[in-house]
Amino acid sequence: MSEISWLDIGCETGSFLYYLRNKYPDMKLTGMDVIPELLEHLNDGIDGKKIIPFLGDITNEQKLPKGTFDIVSMTGVIQIFDEWEGVLRNALSLLNDKGVMYMLSVFNPEPYDVFVKYKPSNQSGGVLEAGWNMISLDSIKRYCEETDFVAEVIPFEINIDIPKNKDDTVRSWTIKKDDGKRMIINGLQLVNNHYIFRIRRR
Ligand SMILES: C[S@@+](CC[C@H](N)C(=O)[O-])C[C@H]1O[C@@H](n2cnc3c(N)ncnc32)[C@H](O)[C@@H]1O
Repeated sequence: MSEISWLDIGCETGSFLYYLRNKYPDMKLTGMDVIPELLEHLNDGIDGKKIIPFLGDITNEQKLPKGTFDIVSMTGVIQIFDEWEGVLRNALSLLNDKGVMYMLSVFNPEPYDVFVKYKPSNQSGGVLEAGWNMISLDSIKRYCEETDFVAEVIPFEINIDIPKNKDDTVRSWTIKKDDGKRMIINGLQLVNNHYIFRIRRR
């Protein structure tokens, strides 16, 4: 059997790839990010097979190695972009015919696409920050159906407590609900509903 290839889009310094390398020592792992300094750390602490860095912009379809990967993951990335359809189209184009994509993000279980912009209250002017859009589950499913992909949704339930971060107050933390489950909110006072989409060609 030929080696399985996995691409992680928006891999940052590679923490997820580090986990994958320990779990799958023989897999061909590639990390893609738009910031070169982050990719320089991809192989920090990796003893086995090296992780391949790929400097690329997921909003720009040119230079993307289309039809290449067995598995593509994209976590915490789609929520950054207002033009999410183009990002999803480009991410899916990286899959080979039998490939599967896993996309984890905050999504809206209600039928509204929510586009969030914010700034710290002690800052006047400047560029508003992004990163917390909540596209509706319905919209992602509809996009996949219309482009001949099949999307399954897997709800993500957190089972650890995360305290409020005093140094980075926008960061998410958990609140225990009466039923024992945890709710995740952030400094924008938005409830974060996380889901994993598993998407493949029809
Ligand atoms: C919120 S972080 C998520 C990091 C990691 N995937 C996680 O789940 O913790 C978003 C990552 O996407 C990268 N990114 C932002 N815009 C990008 C783009 N246009 N193309 C590729 N990566 C991008 C950022 O540099 C950053 O590493």
